[in-house]
Amino acid sequence: MRLAIFASGGGSNFQAIVDAAHAGNLSAEVVLCVASNLNAGVIQRANQAGIPVHVLDSSFPKDATSLLDVLAAHKVTFVALAGFMKLIPDFLIQNYPRAIVNIHPALLPNFGGKGMFGKHVHHAVLTSGVTESGATVHWVDHEYDTGEIILQEKVPVYPEDTVETLAARVLNLEHRLYPKALQLFC
Ligand code: GRF
Repeated sequence: MRLAIFASGGGSNFQAIVDAAHAGNLSAEVVLCVASNLNAGVIQRANQAGIPVHVLDSSFPKDATSLLDVLAAHKVTFVALAGFMKLIPDFLIQNYPRAIVNIHPALLPNFGGKGMFGKHVHHAVLTSGVTESGATVHWVDHEYDTGEIILQEKVPVYPEDTVETLAARVLNLEHRLYPKALQLFC
């Protein structure tokens, strides 16, 4: 598996995947980091790991060719979205059928969809009163968070939880779950 990781933020999942590959727990090679903006913390992590970075410009998602060219140049065979804040355009899904996955910080199909990202997810979970949350790795389709579920694990939600404590517990789970899910396709 020649993996490209798409991210918009701090990139702790990117790091967990890179670390799992280095430790031999994931038989994939992370060959590219695609960042949606120049300020994404993931860029520094990729630089430190010696992984090439492609930063999307304003032509994305309209200009299909430039991104496809970059992915082809790095011989990318599989794409993992890790905190990528843009909708994946159809041209990418068509060119990478059954080869684009995402991680979501809740138990899909609940607490997903447009606007359900970051703290909004955990806030909604806490407000609902459920006693379990978790993380979900799923295939990417044309909508937000609706693709078929690949792997899902749970964490408890405690009465004293805040958005921050729950987010930290879920993120910790994500770092174990994402490499494990990717290994299924290696
Ligand atoms: C994670 O919670 C992931 O589930 C969501 O975005 C967050 C990314 O965190 N899609 P990081 O940038 O990997 O630290």
